[in-house]
Amino acid sequence: MKLKYFSHSSFQLTANSGIKILIDPFLDGNPTSPVKAEDVDAEYIILTHAHDDHIGDSFSIAKRCSPLFICVNELAEYCKAKGFEAHNMHIGGGYDFEFGRVKFTIAHHGSMTPDNSYAGEPAGVIVSIDGKNIYHTGDTGLFYDMKLIGEMTPIDYMLLPIGDNFTMGITDAVKAVEFTAPKIAIPMHYNTFPVIKVDPNEFKTKAETNGINCIVMEYGEEIEL
Ligand code: NI
Ligand code: MN
Repeated sequence: MKLKYFSHSSFQLTANSGIKILIDPFLDGNPTSPVKAEDVDAEYIILTHAHDDHIGDSFSIAKRCSPLFICVNELAEYCKAKGFEAHNMHIGGGYDFEFGRVKFTIAHHGSMTPDNSYAGEPAGVIVSIDGKNIYHTGDTGLFYDMKLIGEMTPIDYMLLPIGDNFTMGITDAVKAVEFTAPKIAIPMHYNTFPVIKVDPNEFKTKAETNGINCIVMEYGEEIEL
């Protein structure tokens, strides 16, 4: 399978079967994204929470591609109210889709929609495809249960925020990867706006000092997992 990074918290997973899954596609309003919403397509869109830098361009992409949204119950209902198809899930629950398994985890954050609707709890998500477990933490502060998440599901790739202010900063993110112990850590949610400007290589150096391999992905880069 392949993992593509658009910047911020936006990723695209492509299963060996060719099925494409977008996570938090924030492209047109994202000053760091090298691609626009019209350039991507997907069969599924996973949303970690409803903030505008995560819902992003989901609905314009959905109008064109008719994907199935996968998110927590309240946000799934919000997507349905906008006229889209959604699979309702919730924190702690997993479900086997045609491409693989999706399980939602806790995240410590907020989740109101851009038009001030209630969207339930924010979440992280573990996506298991083609024998690999990818943990996208969503926006979150550090929490000790990341240790439990890593124990219950050995994580191959952990995608986690390092930008500080709204989420973990570098010091907390280094502790997060120590708790979760992924094979590879990939930083996200940094340098999109001045308030979350940090040096991802500082995170990489500190994580690797603790024995966790780290890849700082370029904007638009795609890697084979
Ligand atoms: Ni957020
Ligand atoms: Mn965010």
